[in-house]
Amino acid sequence: MSDILDKTDLRFSELGASSPLEIKLLFEELLGRAKEEARSISGPSELESFRVRWIGRKNSIFSKIQDNWLVSAAPDQRRSIGSFFNSYKGFVQQIVDSCEGAIEVLEMKDPPRGKSGFDLSLPGVIRPIGTHHLIRQVLQEIEDIFFSIGFSVVEGPEIETPYYNFEALNIPEFHPVRDDMDTFYLELLKSAPGPLLLRTHTSPVQIRTMEKRQPPVRVIVPGKVYRRDNPDATHSFMFHQIEGLAVDSDITFCDFTGTIDYFVRRFFGESVKTRFRPSYFPFTEPSVEFDVSCVFCGGSGTAKSGGTCGKCKGSGWIELFGAGMVDPAVYGFVNYDPKKVSGFAFGIGIDRLAMLRYGIDDIQAFSQNDVRFLKQFP
Ligand code: PHE
Repeated sequence: MSDILDKTDLRFSELGASSPLEIKLLFEELLGRAKEEARSISGPSELESFRVRWIGRKNSIFSKIQDNWLVSAAPDQRRSIGSFFNSYKGFVQQIVDSCEGAIEVLEMKDPPRGKSGFDLSLPGVIRPIGTHHLIRQVLQEIEDIFFSIGFSVVEGPEIETPYYNFEALNIPEFHPVRDDMDTFYLELLKSAPGPLLLRTHTSPVQIRTMEKRQPPVRVIVPGKVYRRDNPDATHSFMFHQIEGLAVDSDITFCDFTGTIDYFVRRFFGESVKTRFRPSYFPFTEPSVEFDVSCVFCGGSGTAKSGGTCGKCKGSGWIELFGAGMVDPAVYGFVNYDPKKVSGFAFGIGIDRLAMLRYGIDDIQAFSQNDVRFLKQFP
C-alpha cells in the first residue's frame, strides 16, 4: 500500500515506521499532500470542505490518524507520534488560515456575484444629502438681515432661573406670565438652591448680555423657548424666537421703528406696509405690537376668491411680534445708567414668520419630521 492517505486506515504497527525520522517522514508526506490539494481551493466553500476533510472533528484524515496510529501505538512511540501529530495538524490549520485570508482579499477585488456575497461593483445606496430644516433656513435669513446692519449673535441657556426669565425683566411675582400654567418648572431635589424653569422667551439673554457687556450693545438671540400651551395649529410647547436688543447712548424710537421696518421689508418684500399698536410688556416702555399688511391678500382683507381673507380675518393686518423701548427699570438690574443709555428690544417668533412666508397653516408640521413636508423646502 503506497498511498499515504490509505495508510491512515492502518494501525501504527502496520505502517513499518518505528524511528522518529520515519514517523516524521510519514507526516511530511501527508503535509505535502495537503498542500497539493490546497492549491485547487478557489472559494470559501472549497476551503471549508478542505478543512473538514483534513482536520475536521470527525472522520477527517487527522482524526483517523489519531484513532488508528496514536491509539494503537506502543506507549514509548506514542509520545513522538503525538508531538508530530500536533505540529502537523497545526501546519494544516495554517494552510486553512492563509487560504482564508487570500480568499478575503480576492473577494474584495473580484466579488462573487450571487446571493452568497456582495458585489462591490454595484452602485451603492444613494443617500440624499439633507438640507437645513425650514426653521433653520428662516433663522439664517433673519440673522443675515440683522448682520447687514451691525447686529451680532449671542446665545443663552434654555434652562433658566426665575431671576433671568422674570425678575430682572421687571416681571414681578404676581404677573400672570409667572403662573405655573405658562411655564415648565424643573422637578428638582428639595436640596436644590432654587427653582429652575425652561425659558418662556429669549428675553433673559437680554439681561445676560447686558451683565457682560457695556453699551453699545447690538445683538440678536436665536433659540428655543417653551410654554405650557396645548398643541394646536398655532401653539406648540416649544417654538423658536429671535430676540433683538440694541442699547446705546442715543437710541431713539425712530431708530427702533426704522430698524424693524427695514427688517420686515427685507424679509417680506418692499411692498408690505407696517404698523405699530400700543401693547404691554413689563420690560419695555412704551411697548408695541408690530403688524405687517397681510401677505396673503395684500392688505385688502379680501381673498382672491372674493370672500374674506382667512389669514388676516378680513382686517388686512397680521400681528408679527412684540417689541418696545427697553424699560429703564431693566437697566437697574444690570447696572446701566438709565439716564445715559436708551435702547429697544423685540422678540420675533421664527415659526410664525416661516408659516406666514410659506403659507404653512400648522405649526406642528415643523416638528413632525414628515419628509414629504420637509422636502418641500430644499
Ligand atoms: N419676550 C416677549 C414674548 O416672548 C417678546 C418681546 C421681546 C417683547 C422683546 C418686547 C421686547 O412675548
